[in-house]
Amino acid sequence: MTVKPAQKKAVGENDNGGSSRGMMRRVNTLSLNPTAISARLTAQSIAIWQLVVKPVVTSTNDIVRDYDAKGEGHGVAVMAEEQTRGRGRRGRIWHSPAGANLYCSSGWHFSGPVEALSGLSLAVGAMVAEAAMEVCGADLQLKWPNDLYAGDQKVGGVLIEMLGARDNAQSAVIGIGLNVSMSADDGAPIDRPWTDLATASGQNIDRNELASAVLNQLAEGLVQIDQQGCVPWLNLWRQRDYLKGRSIVIDGSPPVAGIAAGVSDSGALLIETESGRQEVSGGEASVLEMGALR
Ligand code: BTN
Repeated sequence: MTVKPAQKKAVGENDNGGSSRGMMRRVNTLSLNPTAISARLTAQSIAIWQLVVKPVVTSTNDIVRDYDAKGEGHGVAVMAEEQTRGRGRRGRIWHSPAGANLYCSSGWHFSGPVEALSGLSLAVGAMVAEAAMEVCGADLQLKWPNDLYAGDQKVGGVLIEMLGARDNAQSAVIGIGLNVSMSADDGAPIDRPWTDLATASGQNIDRNELASAVLNQLAEGLVQIDQQGCVPWLNLWRQRDYLKGRSIVIDGSPPVAGIAAGVSDSGALLIETESGRQEVSGGEASVLEMGALR
């Protein structure tokens, strides 16, 4: 379903997070409804987004790619009730059961050079955390590079796919997955500690309200990034840094171990190691606790 609000536009392992919960109840959430989402959009959002809501897709990122291939990528926002091939970072599956969560991808053409976008996934994580906290009141943190956490459990993630440069613009697909209200059965395939916003906040969440808040925050934030770069958002990210001060290890050969010391202005993770401070721009960070990895 496509809505053009007002004037313009009404494999591998699983990465949603692994369940430590056996008693999670599924709270039925209202269906995603383009009219309800559009009703809460700001004027800025209405001017920017062409909202597309689908029942089932392979991946919302795929649909944005299709729009981009037709020259309609900038400003399209695709949401789906279910994804049959949802994907996460590093080739993982993003577990995407029907009617339980938010799966949202947006197309954006950034005006600056690609180097200015190295902090983009962190910046988007900060925007999504702001939006989700505003709607549900839960205290969320950000785990480098692009995970949203509630307590020690993953509640969401960001997957950015860069499509290359065209007409002096960098074309990007910004994919966002938020666990909203997922039953233990639906989450059973996930092999890492996970939670959802309903559990984290103790409230039923209206996914349409959440969708509008995410789109409003993205509209404001992506325009700001075009004008000022990612650093203002990285500053917000730093206030919600889950890893800072923890003993961590980054996978890789060789692995890098040390104390997490924040992020650079390009979004790289800073680590105090035995041989001094290192910057890591890719990989997976695990927390070392009492000698065990988390
Ligand atoms: C991660 O934490 O690994 C990133 C997960 C991103 C999942 C979202 S859901 C909407 C969009 N479509 C996808 O297939 N992936 C992203």
